[in-house]
Amino acid sequence: MKKLLITGASGFLGWHLCQLAKQEWEVYGTYFSHRQEISGIKMLKVNLTDFQELKDIFNDIQPAAVIHTAAQSQPNICQTHPQESHLINVTASCNIAGLCADNAIPCAYTSTDLVFDGLKAPYRETDPVNPINIYGEQKVQAETGMLERYPLTAVCRMPLMFGMATPTSRSFIQPLIETLKAGKELSLFIDEFRTPANVTTASKGLLLALEKVNGYIHLGGKERISRYEFGRLLAEVFQLSADKLTSCRQEDVKMAAPRPADVSLDSSQAFALGYQPLSIKAELETLINI
Ligand SMILES: NC(=O)c1ccc[n+]([C@@H]2O[C@H](COP(=O)([O-])OP(=O)(O)OC[C@H]3O[C@@H](n4cnc5c(N)ncnc54)[C@H](OP(=O)(O)O)[C@@H]3O)[C@@H](O)[C@H]2O)c1
Repeated sequence: MKKLLITGASGFLGWHLCQLAKQEWEVYGTYFSHRQEISGIKMLKVNLTDFQELKDIFNDIQPAAVIHTAAQSQPNICQTHPQESHLINVTASCNIAGLCADNAIPCAYTSTDLVFDGLKAPYRETDPVNPINIYGEQKVQAETGMLERYPLTAVCRMPLMFGMATPTSRSFIQPLIETLKAGKELSLFIDEFRTPANVTTASKGLLLALEKVNGYIHLGGKERISRYEFGRLLAEVFQLSADKLTSCRQEDVKMAAPRPADVSLDSSQAFALGYQPLSIKAELETLINI
């Protein structure tokens, strides 16, 4: 089997991606602060912001392909720690593209729907970006910097993702389920829209993009939904009472990083390539017993 390097294997997406990728690849995964073992994966501790460490793993492993998921993925932290987050989100990403170019190997990068301003959804790959927070700005800088260094990079714009919790990470649905189970008040935005995807489905999309895409591709889910409607669907699928679920508006909650209202992705290009998300309800149903 050929060697695949997955950065951020200790993260939510990276962990799920490793579970799928190991069926076809000899997978090397990186972690930084969350040490862990993943069955069938060779895990390495790497600070990706240290260029020497990065070069060393490329030399040691000699990967046949790279999927770069590692990031400071929390918009509020990027907003309050712009320099620190720039190092991992922009500098390291560009360096990874450069090393992939030097070795002429496929490279897929996980960008975000938050590169858009949320005013003109649904967004296609050709639509102009206009991020409204620092995280989104950094992802745009990484996208363009990586493509400058290596035009063959697959720049995958990921949607909001949900799925099973991993040993060291979880998605936005776990706190929602806990709150609903505890019968506590839960208030979700009725005016914030996304095209969420199951992380396992999105991981399949990434592996497809690694093989078939050069340039931008959107890996959104099949449906556009508000956070509030998503919460209602989640309660229904997990058979939890939605009595304490209420709606609120973005303007009611102040966060360090502003959030765009509607960054729904038009992912028809990926669908045509064989990326096949189910309806949100059907994707949630796959998670009931795990
Ligand atoms: N989750 C979503 O809904 C979503 C939506 C759109 C786009 N994305 C993008 O998808 C990717 C994965 O997101 P995620 O939710 O899986 O993120 P996550 O759970 O926060 O994981 C981030 C990963 O990056 C690693 N990392 C951070 N700083 C590092 C450094 N200096 N050196 C080496 N590794 C470092 C972390 O390692 P340690 O934990 O071991 O330190 C972890 O493995 C990110 O690029 C994110 O921007 C995610």
